[in-house]
Amino acid sequence: QKINVAVLGATGLVGQNIIEILEERNFPVGQLFPLASKRSAGTTISFKGKEIEVIDVDTFDWTQVQIGLFSAGSAVSEKYAPIAADEGVVVIDNTSFYRYEPEIPLVIPEVNPGALVDFRNRNIIANPNCSTIQMLVALKPIHDAYGIDRINVSTYQSVSGAGKEAIDELVAQTAQLMNGRPVETENFPVQMAFNVIPQIDVFQDNGYTKEEMKMVWETHKIMGDESIRVNPTAVRVPVFYGHAEAIHLELRQPVSAEDIKNILADAPGVTMLAEDKDYPTQVTHASGNDQTYVGRIREDISHPNGINLWVVADNVRKGAATNSVQIAELLVRDYL
Ligand code: A2P
Repeated sequence: QKINVAVLGATGLVGQNIIEILEERNFPVGQLFPLASKRSAGTTISFKGKEIEVIDVDTFDWTQVQIGLFSAGSAVSEKYAPIAADEGVVVIDNTSFYRYEPEIPLVIPEVNPGALVDFRNRNIIANPNCSTIQMLVALKPIHDAYGIDRINVSTYQSVSGAGKEAIDELVAQTAQLMNGRPVETENFPVQMAFNVIPQIDVFQDNGYTKEEMKMVWETHKIMGDESIRVNPTAVRVPVFYGHAEAIHLELRQPVSAEDIKNILADAPGVTMLAEDKDYPTQVTHASGNDQTYVGRIREDISHPNGINLWVVADNVRKGAATNSVQIAELLVRDYL
């Protein structure tokens, strides 16, 4: 069975990774249709050794495809997902636009594959936020075994999460500083080079950023458990690819680091670094890979039910593109 696939945002960072990953994982693509705005219509992308022309989404005939992978921003998804869905296309949307609508499934294949069945409600499936995905791949098996009462999490998120222009800006700012020139800031709230910024996305009325609240809302929806308390701080760091998270768990019972290691040793999608002095980083482990790496597993010396973890993954791949392609694989395997 071959599936015709459209990738909307094909010239963007996530879109390009989706196209690479479709090829890498040998997804049964019949025809691939790369879509973007008028600006890049007519340019080409390569897929399986062939150059394929990018099409202006405005002129696209959606009846030609069965699956649409969207990563062109919320406004674009808002407009085109219903149009595609009405033509029978199953949309897998990487933006936050549809994530919090109750009838739209929000899926991490290792965590809640069963939720996928609800795609029939609207023909739309939402892909979660990058920080939520890696956190829950690591925490779901722990929650199932011991029950998580509270998650305290601080993130260390790379600039690729903000798209291609943000990557270019970190490069440019670094060069400007090295050359003693004034720094220009456009894609970040303040200078990003040689700095860390405790603001990702916009502020909400409660003083948290939207990125932080995404981790709260999405944890509840994906785990199907509103009783898990989530206390997030999301921080941008001058790293190109990969997000890290320092996670402090309060479990519903005292649990040893050994117990957690036993659980994570068999967790789907997780590579554990069990030795105390061995740990993953964005550069040495995550970047370019699909696993969620967990290290620094320690008992909390200040809290009887506490466990500390360090969780790292590639935000563009497992945090976005790979997760979307895995959803598409499940869809083909079980439903199409
Ligand atoms: P385009 O090349 O036509 O601008 P990134 O997140 O890396 O910045 O990429 C954003 C992606 O979303 C690009 O592929 C971009 O295409 C696409 N995009 C942005 N705005 C629109 C739009 N109005 N219609 C279609 N595609 C869009």
